[in-house]
Amino acid sequence: MADALGIPDQINGGTVSLRPITHGDRPLIYRWLNDPVVMALWEGTDRPLSEVKSVGWVERFVGDDASLECLIIETVECPIGFIELSRYPGSHTYAHLVEIDICIGEPSKWERGYGSAALSALLHWLFTCTNTHRAFLQPRAANERAVHVYEKVGFRKEGVLKQAEYHHSKYQDTVMMAAIRDEWLAEFSMKFEDA
Ligand SMILES: CC(C)(COP(=O)(O)OP(=O)(O)OC[C@H]1O[C@@H](n2cnc3c(N)ncnc32)[C@H](O)[C@@H]1OP(=O)(O)O)[C@@H](O)C(=O)NCCC(=O)NCCS
Repeated sequence: MADALGIPDQINGGTVSLRPITHGDRPLIYRWLNDPVVMALWEGTDRPLSEVKSVGWVERFVGDDASLECLIIETVECPIGFIELSRYPGSHTYAHLVEIDICIGEPSKWERGYGSAALSALLHWLFTCTNTHRAFLQPRAANERAVHVYEKVGFRKEGVLKQAEYHHSKYQDTVMMAAIRDEWLAEFSMKFEDA
């Protein structure tokens, strides 16, 4: 794989760990992305993933495309969700960027600190073990819990992208949020020092 991030077998985030997705995770992805409660906050309840498309969904990340990675979030008990990473490997201009998307597919596991733990561990790994300089995400402004969690773990709001996402048959605003390596390491990496 050209210019891959070199994701290790496991990234430890305390209450959660992250590992690369495998073909064996497809049934979980299919279940999560067919749960209307999850999809209401993800791509929309009108956009469930078909079983056929779930094969290609996983294949994108397991294949040779170095611009896409997917990590499964696990507690000690079970997998609970995933994080997608999109990059521009090989680009002189944009290789330092990573776009992040996170979905905890088990609603019963929301609001237990797992999303925050997973993102904190991911940012620490990206900024200390890879050439990532800017990590960013673009939640819908209406997804207030997501925006809150992203700010809590060190992403800063940079501005509103008006009507940037078509969701539930409406154009909706998104918020550009980013973490910059030097700023994040100065302010947020302390908690990893004793780990
Ligand atoms: C968004 C998501 C990743 C957050 O992960 P999580 O594990 O549920 O969140 P955590 O438990 O780490 O933190 C929840 C925080 O949100 C806060 N919160 C909950 N509802 C909120 C709301 N409506 N507005 C603002 N904050 C809210 C909680 O109080 C808590 O904050 P605190 O720790 O400061 O008290 C997860 O809920 C998820 O995947 N949801 C479904 C898909 C989704 O929305 N993905 C994001 C797409 S951009």
